[in-house]
Amino acid sequence: MSLATIPLCFEINGTTVAIDVSPVERLSAVLRDELGLTGTKVGCDAGDCGACSVIVDDEVVCACLMSAASVEGASVRTVEGLANGSLSALQQSFLRHGAAQCGICTPGLLVTATALLEKNPAPSEAEVQDALGGVLCRCTGYRKIVRAVTNANGPTALDTALIPSRAAVGASPIRLDGERKVTGAEIFGADERPKDALSVLVVRSPHWHAAFEIGDTEAFVRAHPGVLAVFTAADIPGRNRFGVIPPFADQPALAEHRARFRGEAVALIAGERAAIEDLDPADFPIVWKELPHALSPDEAKILPPLHEGRNGNLLTQGYVECGDPEAALANAHATVSGAVETSYVEHAYIEPEAGFAAMEGDTLIIKACTQAPYMDRDDTAAVLGLPPEKVRIVPLATGGGFGSKLDISLQPLIGLVALKTGRPAALVYTRGDSMRSTTKRHPAAMKATISADAEGRITGMVFEGDFNTGAYASWGPTVANRVPVHASGPYVTLNYRAVGRAIHTNGPISGAFRGFGVPQATIMQETLYDRLAEKLGLDRLEFRILNALTNGQKTTCGQLLTSGVGIRQCLEELRPQWRRALDTAARLNATAGKTRRGVGVASCWYGCGNTSLPNPSTIRLGITPSGRVVLHQGAVDIGQGSNTVVTQICADALGLPLSTFTLLGGDTGITPDAGKTSASRQTFVSGKAAELAGRQLREKILRFANVSEAAEIAIEGQHLLVSEGEVRRSIALSSLPLDADGYAFAAEATYDPPTEALDEKGQGKPYAVYGYGAQLVELEVDVTLGTVKLLKFTAAHDVGRAVNPLLAEGQIEGGIAQGIGLALMEEYIPGHTENLHDYLIPTIGDVPEIETILVEVPDPEGPFGVKGLGEHVLIPTAPAILNAIRHATGAEITKVPATPARVLEAIQAVEKAL
Ligand code: FES
Repeated sequence: MSLATIPLCFEINGTTVAIDVSPVERLSAVLRDELGLTGTKVGCDAGDCGACSVIVDDEVVCACLMSAASVEGASVRTVEGLANGSLSALQQSFLRHGAAQCGICTPGLLVTATALLEKNPAPSEAEVQDALGGVLCRCTGYRKIVRAVTNANGPTALDTALIPSRAAVGASPIRLDGERKVTGAEIFGADERPKDALSVLVVRSPHWHAAFEIGDTEAFVRAHPGVLAVFTAADIPGRNRFGVIPPFADQPALAEHRARFRGEAVALIAGERAAIEDLDPADFPIVWKELPHALSPDEAKILPPLHEGRNGNLLTQGYVECGDPEAALANAHATVSGAVETSYVEHAYIEPEAGFAAMEGDTLIIKACTQAPYMDRDDTAAVLGLPPEKVRIVPLATGGGFGSKLDISLQPLIGLVALKTGRPAALVYTRGDSMRSTTKRHPAAMKATISADAEGRITGMVFEGDFNTGAYASWGPTVANRVPVHASGPYVTLNYRAVGRAIHTNGPISGAFRGFGVPQATIMQETLYDRLAEKLGLDRLEFRILNALTNGQKTTCGQLLTSGVGIRQCLEELRPQWRRALDTAARLNATAGKTRRGVGVASCWYGCGNTSLPNPSTIRLGITPSGRVVLHQGAVDIGQGSNTVVTQICADALGLPLSTFTLLGGDTGITPDAGKTSASRQTFVSGKAAELAGRQLREKILRFANVSEAAEIAIEGQHLLVSEGEVRRSIALSSLPLDADGYAFAAEATYDPPTEALDEKGQGKPYAVYGYGAQLVELEVDVTLGTVKLLKFTAAHDVGRAVNPLLAEGQIEGGIAQGIGLALMEEYIPGHTENLHDYLIPTIGDVPEIETILVEVPDPEGPFGVKGLGEHVLIPTAPAILNAIRHATGAEITKVPATPARVLEAIQAVEKAL
């Protein structure tokens, strides 16, 4: 209920303000909504994430937990107050160290670290971890944040202006979108709201599975002043089904009389902001009738199909077979078998889904966070019965995605309200709604057997995995198909059968999450590899090196890998650390004690881009009469760095310095389709399109100047300079005719990786390029408590060519942090862990030292030899940790995450068996 306002006077970033506020209004809301200081982010509204950290009278507080009234007379500092004419030393240090990726956590971290440095100008790593422990970051893995704070007064960052032509690839300039992230100027989904926007409340199912009838909505609207309208499935003008894989599109934007999972949207209430904020959703006229439900694939087998026309509750299955696996297992020198279960994992990006929709003439504009603007456009248009060109998606900065923001969420909902009312419509998911209604990592139940000959060469493998795909398809088919292709790991496996099944339940929808099922399958395979090496009496690392794929060998899909296979090099790079770590562990474990040292290793491979499906990217660029190179770069940068990396590639292909470039990003109205940001495809696929477009533009210029490929080009003011030997030409750009986009020279190129369909045995060429990696972890297990303390990771990843080594390192550190969560703590329990208090993700104190080794085995298909990296970096982490726990204690973990209780139980099982 809205209360009478009270006057409030306080100092904000050195300026006194006097405003009237509600006595119960949160400080975060006043800062953002009344004062426009949107640099202070809201991730949870519960004090769990720290994104809203501000300094009040020299103390760091969560602005979401503080009433605005309580800062009367106080001095408040936000991220906007940190720069004083120029960036503070700490802000520069964040840029220099690559400590900001998506940037949604960055203001909270900067503010908190500023308060620390004011009290303690030279903090130790432990002091930094202690001070920043309450601010969550899901992208970076924290290591670069620690370095940025402990080295805040170092030299300035590498300025793009200092990087000469053709030297961008391989350099680590500050990210091109970096400054906005450290000043709080970056605009995320919740940061822009038209003044006349309606608010939208989504009515969601409180039941796993239920039929429902909606009552008298007109009476509801009349009874609630300020509420304008209610919309249900009956109001949807188009096809009330969406889905990322068209043949499986099965999810209604608003459910029709039956909700299949808890959190499913069933109706929208639109109204003035205050009225919606005061609304009690329990007042909404709806009658529920619960239906039988299943939360696990086993339960789902005896439940009627959730979707008509499917094979029971089997959504789909993927299959790969080569050789004669049964014979191989039967005739092997040694075999091992096992089973592993994994849990739901929540993406837990710090930015809940947010955005607004508005009509501009007859075009619907949607500004929101996303990983896939063109997919959003096409799905939203279909739901709303509009031609795709009448929907324009303008991505705002995305505060982490990791796969979940590939699926549409609020887009058709706010689009429907804007379309029907003619007024802008804004929506910011609560943390609870975000966690309940969006996708998760598939829980998996897997079993496998692997065999080897007496020399230790793998002879055969069989794998089966059931993946709980939840109520709707989302990316379930991708997981089911990608897993069998990858379940062998990057090893020669001549006799093989793998099945991956995606099975519907009434649980949360499982979708894309960094690796598409491969991290789960790799846990199964890599933990069995350790057991097999032990059975054979072989060193675990050498066993992997012996079996690693090399150029000239075939995958289990029969794909001949002719070049660019770098897994062996990755594993070999680990040898020195492996030997040192094993020696240390042996020495420490020689003395009995409650702490045992363990060392683990695991590998990964991952095909970049879609599995045997087209996934083209198009990049356009042009040179303006004023001498700027404008890059239409539609590969959405969700923090991974595509804005910077794709530009670096294009700059070197064109032969002009990075500093001449201006970016136009993402907007479906002005940028060609660069596909979705997923499957480790942007640096490879969009990067290749950028390389081709850059070379094409260069050729046009050289042809125009009538010089050879050896010529150099440069821009000076409004002139293009072309030189070759003695020949010098100066082209006045403003004297040239301009194309429809206003460019004197322009080019556009499309690249689609060459793949081939898989046959019924999964044989074919699913990917054009693979990336590889291997990680080593050292840890300690307290055998009395089952707790695991991580000590160090050494990560060797073959990236083909490191376009931007600093960003590549950031990807590796961030992926390892998410792998730590998968291995040790993250378990989303539907109905129980729907907040960031009960659902635990790694904090700054959970990520140990990470030594990164960038291996560069170029793949001729990728631009400058590039391979993808984003998914790879998470895949080996969890199995390496589980292998290290087993090395330390003998305990085999068969249910992930390896919580202290599970580790202790496994240790006790070993002790009992002795
Ligand atoms: Fe920290 Fe994205 S950079 S959450």
